[in-house]
This record gives sequence, structure tokens and C-alpha cells, in this order.
Amino acid sequence: MNYPWQYDETAQVGTDYRDESEVAAYDERMQKLRNTDVEAADIAKALNLSANSTVWEIGTGTGECAITLAGTVKHVYATDVSPAMLEYARQKAKRRGITNVTFAHGGFLSGFRPDHPVDGIVTQLALHHLPDFWKLKAISVIANSLLSQGRLYLRDVIFPSATDDYDAFFRVVIEGVRSQAGDDVAEQTVQHIKTEFSTLDWILEGMIARNGLTIIEKREEGFLSVYICEK
Ligand SMILES: C[S@@+](CC[C@H](N)C(=O)[O-])C[C@H]1O[C@@H](n2cnc3c(N)ncnc32)[C@H](O)[C@@H]1O
Repeated sequence: MNYPWQYDETAQVGTDYRDESEVAAYDERMQKLRNTDVEAADIAKALNLSANSTVWEIGTGTGECAITLAGTVKHVYATDVSPAMLEYARQKAKRRGITNVTFAHGGFLSGFRPDHPVDGIVTQLALHHLPDFWKLKAISVIANSLLSQGRLYLRDVIFPSATDDYDAFFRVVIEGVRSQAGDDVAEQTVQHIKTEFSTLDWILEGMIARNGLTIIEKREEGFLSVYICEK
């Protein structure tokens, strides 16, 4: 049911990923900064995926992870709220001859849903687009879409509780990003802190537990954290 207070998740916060020029620039930036083969292998292992598995990636972006995972599993559903991101990802899959990924319009809160519970759900760098109350709803959708013992791989910017001085923490993070990835990515990090909805670890962990998921592993990777959770 759509309530009058339903959050409009198609309105982007921070970078506007509906903008076609931003989509190509994002893909190029990520290709330089990340190793998708390593990421997909880590996700497949963390989620216990096999050739029979079905996976749902929420906030697929340019589709790199979904397309790479497609080589390991039976089927991937890959959704995003940005039509421009989805079109870019579809074309990429076509160029690479990948036929077992369904790209569809939808977000954490609305739109496309797989028609049966899945073995694994992946979401990277996307949940922070929702304010906290709506993150709780998003994790409820995730929990309800997993098979029993199905797993979630959640990677995002999450603020740690183990600091008393967030300004000092952010300064160190931003300078670390600057030395590794340059001034543009450092400025995007500033804008992320200023305008997007990254949450605190203890709040996120409470939301995960309330939705009946168990955290079986947590990793802190600088500014990013990975949560591997089981239903
Ligand atoms: C920073 S990109 C990350 C893309 C990809 N997951 C990656 O790791 O490169 C964030 C993506 O989340 C999408 N997004 C924003 N809000 C969303 C929502 N409510 N539900 C699903 N996807 C969303 C954006 O359109 C964008 O494609």
C-alpha cells in the first residue's frame, strides 16, 4: 500500500545518478578504484553461493557486480531506482554476452521484487541513500525476500561508534582518501558526510537484529563496513 508519507526513494541524495553523464563517469571511476572480480568472489564466498543460487542486488548501479556474479550463480536480479544506471548496466551485460541477469526498476522500498525468496541479497554503497527510519523498512524488505538461512552482504559507509571525536575521524578519513584516490574523491567524501544519510554502526546493527537477521561477520574497511548477515 502507498501511504501519503511514503518516502520518495527515486529522488536521489548527494550525486544524481539519474544523470547520464554521471553514470559513465561513475563507472570509469569505479573501474579504476575497485577490483570487481575480487569483490564478486568475496561476495559469492560470504553468501555461500553456488551454481543453483539466485541473488538479488539492490542498487546495482552500472551492474558490474551483478554481471560478474552471474558467472557463478543461476540467476541475478539487479534493481536500481535510476533508469540511466539500469540502461547502462543492461548495455554492458549485452556487450559481455550475459543473459542470466534481470535488470529491473525498483529500490529498497518500492518497484520490482523477485517473485520468490532468494538465496542471497547484495547491496553496496546504496543503503545510505535512505534516512534511518526508511533503512529499517528496507532491511525488513530484505529479510522478507530471503530464504531461511539466506544471507545478506551489505557494504556501505557506516560511521563507527568507537570514536569520541567525529571531526578528527573525518579529517583522517578524508586525507586518507585524498592520498589514495585524489582530490575529486576526497571532495565527494566531504559531500557524502555533509549531505547523505550514512548511519552509525549501533543504529544499523539494531535495525538488522530487529528484522530477524544475525550478523555473522562484520568488517571495517576504513570508511566502509561490510556486514554479512543470515536469516
Ligand atoms: C554509489 S552508487 C553504487 C552502485 C553499485 N552498487 C556499486 O557498488 O558501484 C549508488 C546506487 O544506488 C542507487 N540508489 C539510490 N537510492 C536507491 C534506493 N532507494 N534503492 C535502490 N537503489 C538506490 C543509485 O541510483 C545508484 O545507482
